[in-house]
Amino acid sequence: MSEKKLAGKVAVITGGARGLGRGYALRLAGLGADIAIIDRNLKAADVYEFEKAVMTAPTVMEECKAFGVRSMGIEADLTDRDATEKAIAEVVETLGRVDIAICNAGGGTVTFADERQDGKPGDINTTGTTSKCPQETLTRVLDINLMSCMYTCMAVAPYMKEQRSGKIVTAASIAGIQAAPFYHPYGTAKAAIIHYTRSLAQDLGRYNINVNSIAPGIIRTGRLGDRAHLSKLIALNREGTIEECAGVVEFLVTDLSDYVSGVTIAIDGGQIDHQ
Ligand SMILES: NC(=O)c1ccc[n+]([C@@H]2O[C@H](COP(=O)([O-])OP(=O)(O)OC[C@H]3O[C@@H](n4cnc5c(N)ncnc54)[C@H](O)[C@@H]3O)[C@@H](O)[C@H]2O)c1
Repeated sequence: MSEKKLAGKVAVITGGARGLGRGYALRLAGLGADIAIIDRNLKAADVYEFEKAVMTAPTVMEECKAFGVRSMGIEADLTDRDATEKAIAEVVETLGRVDIAICNAGGGTVTFADERQDGKPGDINTTGTTSKCPQETLTRVLDINLMSCMYTCMAVAPYMKEQRSGKIVTAASIAGIQAAPFYHPYGTAKAAIIHYTRSLAQDLGRYNINVNSIAPGIIRTGRLGDRAHLSKLIALNREGTIEECAGVVEFLVTDLSDYVSGVTIAIDGGQIDHQ
């Protein structure tokens, strides 16, 4: 990864303090981009052993600086539209522009381990059915996935339009493509992100802005843990890695994909069609 093909670009990664978002931040920093992490907890990696163990510095921002790029972090809750707009404005004020937005913040969980008030370990997950789902679950899961994504896209769009260039990548999931026998509003939120991505690509295309989505399958991150037991569901017969997702993000934010817009790329090892 020696070619600095993103030198001079500024990339925002939401939810970049751990997991996949951290992987995208490190990949883009390695390609020479200046990095802004926006996360509700910039130390979110500390909550899960797997994440903490792979960190090479106390924060992802410091890890990025080791690549010789500028890097900043903003703690903000992206379910708050005003806070999102303020965060993006701060990035532009500090780093001068915004060329790339990876709208990665999200998750199916209702309460992350670092949000728990009772001091107990682990996430709190709830689910429901299509005809009966707790209000808290519905609101929370749509907010942290769909609304945070739309707010981020809407916040970066004016700057990218003005520059007449930009690359936006949204984070869907194969849960937004496949219907499941159980119901969780996560899949609905991710399906909406796929639709929103296609619509946004139509809106922003004339400004030379590419908008695409990624739909990861079963990827090993600290929060979700080891899911090797699900390998039989996957054509490639194994979980995916953060690095493999970062490779697709690299494609979508560099000139390799200049004529690609409005698509969703599944990163699922062939899971969708596997019988
Ligand atoms: N890991 C997988 O297998 C997988 C599969 C499909 C899709 N995805 C999607 O990829 C993205 C990243 O997943 P991950 O596994 O790395 O999750 P993760 O929980 O490890 O990381 C998510 C990050 O987003 C941040 N975040 C959550 N809500 C936020 C908010 N309201 N405001 C600001 N920051 C917020 C968290 O603090 C955390 O740092 C998510 O959108 C997830 O739905 C993951």
